[in-house]
Amino acid sequence: MAGRLDGKRAIVIGAGSSGPGWGNGKAAAVLFAREGAKVLCVDVNEAAAAETAGIVAEEGGTARAFTADVTKSEQVAALVEDAVAAWGGVDVLQFNVGILGLGGPVEASEETWRTVLDVNLTSLFLTCKHVLPVMERQFEASGRGGAIVAISSIAGIRDIGVPYVAYNTTKGAVVPFVRSVALQYAKQGIRANAVLPGLMNTPMIREPLKEAYAGGDVEKMIAIRDAQCPTGKMGDAWDVAYASLFLASDEAKYVTATEIVVDGGITARIA
Ligand SMILES: NC(=O)c1ccc[n+]([C@@H]2O[C@H](COP(=O)([O-])OP(=O)(O)OC[C@H]3O[C@@H](n4cnc5c(N)ncnc54)[C@H](O)[C@@H]3O)[C@@H](O)[C@H]2O)c1
Repeated sequence: MAGRLDGKRAIVIGAGSSGPGWGNGKAAAVLFAREGAKVLCVDVNEAAAAETAGIVAEEGGTARAFTADVTKSEQVAALVEDAVAAWGGVDVLQFNVGILGLGGPVEASEETWRTVLDVNLTSLFLTCKHVLPVMERQFEASGRGGAIVAISSIAGIRDIGVPYVAYNTTKGAVVPFVRSVALQYAKQGIRANAVLPGLMNTPMIREPLKEAYAGGDVEKMIAIRDAQCPTGKMGDAWDVAYASLFLASDEAKYVTATEIVVDGGITARIA
């Protein structure tokens, strides 16, 4: 059976997971490979990148692990060069990196603010800075453009009740960033879209959020977040990965400059 990404060369940024289990980037990398893509699994954590690439290899897919801090332009340039050297181009960029940083403007330190902006947003800017010329060149040479999928959050369009102003701000900014790139490059065969996950049960939430929700009790935090969702359950990394898969694939060839909300309906209700 044909895979939905057969022949595609993908870069997944933040392809590891910040704890045991499935993060959004890890699930996307593995799913993209299952659907036929070659995947460059990029993470600042060497072991996490290697673990995801290892899962792909065990399943018979094609992946390379690459260690890079995507807040550093030269490291981003190197990872894009690696993909081009290995596979001749880049068809898909899935950008998944995101960290939390608690506090409003008074409580959060200036360092927290700058770090969250750097990791969640400047890294997206740098990644596009280095990937877009590759996609543009390959479109001119062969009519093969590219698809960019950036992971935002409903925290960028709604207040979800946890005071983390830096996180909310960066996630909101992903949407106009993607829209702007999409419209600038529409005639170059490059699409750009965002996925806005709702409350998801991924490793990312465990340590940073357990204090904010439930005095350090992870299980209680999970129960509280589950109860907030209209379905009675948070989503998981695969829900985000499948939305990314659609946007990365040619099935979405006329979908650009927009967002897919993956939130079990939570943003549709008042309280
Ligand atoms: N879990 C949720 O409830 C939820 C909800 C909405 C949106 N999101 C978004 O999903 C994305 C990540 O989710 P996840 O569950 O995969 O998180 P995760 O923390 O498990 O994975 C993110 C990966 O990014 C890597 N990373 C961090 N900084 C990096 C850097 N500077 N350079 C390269 N890699 C770096 C980490 O090492 C980690 O492996 C984030 O953008 C987050 O904002 C999550």
